[in-house]
Amino acid sequence: MRKIAVINQKGGSGKTTTVVNVGAAIAEAGQRVLLVDLDPQAHTTIHLGFEPFKLEKSIYDVLINETPIDDVIIETRVKNLTLLPAKIELASAEIEMVNTIGREIVLREALKKSKNAFQYIFIDCPPSLGLLTLNALTTASEVIIPIQAEFFALEGLTKLVQTIQIVTERINPATHISGVLITMFDIRKNICKEVVEKTQNHFGEKVFKTRIRENVKLAEAPSFGQTIFEFARKSYGAEDYRKLAKEILKGERHEKERTGKRSTKLDKDNGTGNKQKKKRKNS
Ligand SMILES: Nc1ncnc2c1ncn2[C@@H]1O[C@H](COP(=O)(O)OP(=O)(O)OP(=O)(O)O)[C@@H](O)[C@H]1O
Ligand SMILES: [Mg+2]
Repeated sequence: MRKIAVINQKGGSGKTTTVVNVGAAIAEAGQRVLLVDLDPQAHTTIHLGFEPFKLEKSIYDVLINETPIDDVIIETRVKNLTLLPAKIELASAEIEMVNTIGREIVLREALKKSKNAFQYIFIDCPPSLGLLTLNALTTASEVIIPIQAEFFALEGLTKLVQTIQIVTERINPATHISGVLITMFDIRKNICKEVVEKTQNHFGEKVFKTRIRENVKLAEAPSFGQTIFEFARKSYGAEDYRKLAKEILKGERHEKERTGKRSTKLDKDNGTGNKQKKKRKNS
């Protein structure tokens, strides 16, 4: 299972848009996906067409009332795409959790108890580095940082990278930055090219080859409660998120090798499995 937290404490950097649309693309590719809405703004929940105030239970109940995750998750219209929804009441969770023992790992422990088998979990974080984001970091095996291609884009990134390093050292050695994503990219703007160059200088190979172009359909889809694939399948936005999903799926091999869990299927794809078998036969 790959658990990917999408984090940037800078507001409006494309976290929710990425979680919803890349999650939907990976679900369409046949993987079982859970989206965790860890933001009191409940944007992922709304983007998928749910009205938070109508929901009986939310992630708040998981974090505060110890409600099992399996009693809270809901199926979306998209096949294979499941949601752990949020409501505005999540806003007080950080304060309410202050005296909870192990408050940084409540989400991780709750997820462990789920009987559902997900292949991908994407966590949409709020625009802050508070306790909710910390819970995402202790749960995640990977972090994706979306960066909006604009003037202040790289401000605050040092703090974010430091926070991830501290969590890796102290609580969750498995977590690391697996990808940096340029969002709202416009090739005609010099500032966009500058941001790409600086991001590449800083993060090197970790920057996704796919850049999410600025696309009005991506901005319109949430108000219809639809993913980009439901709203405008042929838009640039849909094309870009499909491409990103492929890049993330490809990264599976790299992630398995990193953690020492190699997939036999991928070994076969690479041809090495067959070659070894032949060798053994001949000897
Ligand atoms: N590629 C894009 N092109 C055009 N508009 C976009 C694109 N990506 C996101 N948007 C729009 O930009 C705004 C911010 O995006 P989004 O909500 O995904 O950011 P966020 O990081 O989740 O924000 P917050 O920090 O408030 O949670 C939204 O209105 C969204 O619809
Ligand atoms: Mg958001």
